[in-house]
Amino acid sequence: MNTIDKSLRIIPFAKPRLLRLSRAYGQYVWDETGRKYLDCHTGHGVAFLGHRNPKIVESIKRQMELIMTATPAFQTDIADEVLSKLSRIIPGDMDYVFFLNSGSEAVELAMKIARKVTGRKRFIAFRNSFHGRTMGALSVTWNPKYREGYDPFPWETKFIPYNDIDAVTSTVDESVAAVLFEPVQGEGGLTHATQEFARTLTEVCENTGASLIVDEVQAGFGRTGKVWAHEHLNIRPDILVAGKSMGGGFPVSMVVVKASIGERLREGEHGSTHGGNPLALAAISGGIDILINDSVPLKSSLSGEKLSAELKKIVECCTHVTREVKGKGLMLGIELRFNPDEVIRELQMKGLLCLKAGTSVLRLLPSYLINDDDIKFCSELINEVLSAWKPEKGGS
Ligand SMILES: Cc1ncc(COP(=O)(O)O)c(C=O)c1O
Repeated sequence: MNTIDKSLRIIPFAKPRLLRLSRAYGQYVWDETGRKYLDCHTGHGVAFLGHRNPKIVESIKRQMELIMTATPAFQTDIADEVLSKLSRIIPGDMDYVFFLNSGSEAVELAMKIARKVTGRKRFIAFRNSFHGRTMGALSVTWNPKYREGYDPFPWETKFIPYNDIDAVTSTVDESVAAVLFEPVQGEGGLTHATQEFARTLTEVCENTGASLIVDEVQAGFGRTGKVWAHEHLNIRPDILVAGKSMGGGFPVSMVVVKASIGERLREGEHGSTHGGNPLALAAISGGIDILINDSVPLKSSLSGEKLSAELKKIVECCTHVTREVKGKGLMLGIELRFNPDEVIRELQMKGLLCLKAGTSVLRLLPSYLINDDDIKFCSELINEVLSAWKPEKGGS
């Protein structure tokens, strides 16, 4: 025990939002003074099913009364329940799943699996990609700001332009273990893949034996208007990675693989103390019920269309500060002509929480519970702030 008083602080990796949150429910959060905010930040997209969704809370509470920890070496009823529910939403030819705690961890496992089954050591990722901050995930994350000072990375990665068919055909060859692909680039700026690009990518992976790792940590679980964002592209991943929204706020992620890959993985080749924790599985179980029973993808698609139409009107009338609307479903944003940090700060002061994507996109990741009044509030506020914005006011 320390006998002297010391003040312990969190390492300041996160840029402070200067806001103390005390409570959250549905699509809203409240600060310490009781002020309400429409939450289009949702903890980097996590609270997509709504904060403290009663179905998820109930499911976790029920599990807490039974068993709170068990590794996958033991069988549990909650694991059986989740496997049976997940099998309703997992692509048909994918038969094996492993649960983990964070998106980065799941990306790490996806890369390890590709390395193992192909015997190859090279990876291809895209410019503006984001796959996480642990060493494997960071090695396929593009932003030089995140990578600086952390090299060498475990495996060689080549970054090629997104949506560039020629780059894919000329770079992906028999030496490549896997290509990591976000159907909609989340942190990188909300660009989504074209059908033709995705089709070529799948064909090239098939022809060269490289695994196609589809990272749906941010876009998956209904946010873009389909359960999985890659369904818009009619492609089939070899390895699917998901996280964020699945647990309704409880930390959880998963890696799903095709039967042909899963059958080659052996006991002891990976593990995680907390991966597949019963409380996390209970959160997923509640999450899948909501996803299916409340038609979450459809609601996302409809609300996304309404919000997108409002954002397009803003872009048309604020051309001095805006470029275009980006994203899909409820993963939307406006590309500004400058760094949106100051705009985000002003919106926060006026009751709307949102975040940045890339260097210039004002990003909105609302809950699927966002309603017409919320869309009106959100779009009128963004319009008010942007139409009065003096270009010289906006950051670098
Ligand atoms: C597409 C994608 N992959 C991976 C990650 C990493 O997830 P986590 O922060 O849970 O490790 C993120 C996080 O934003 C992401 O957007």
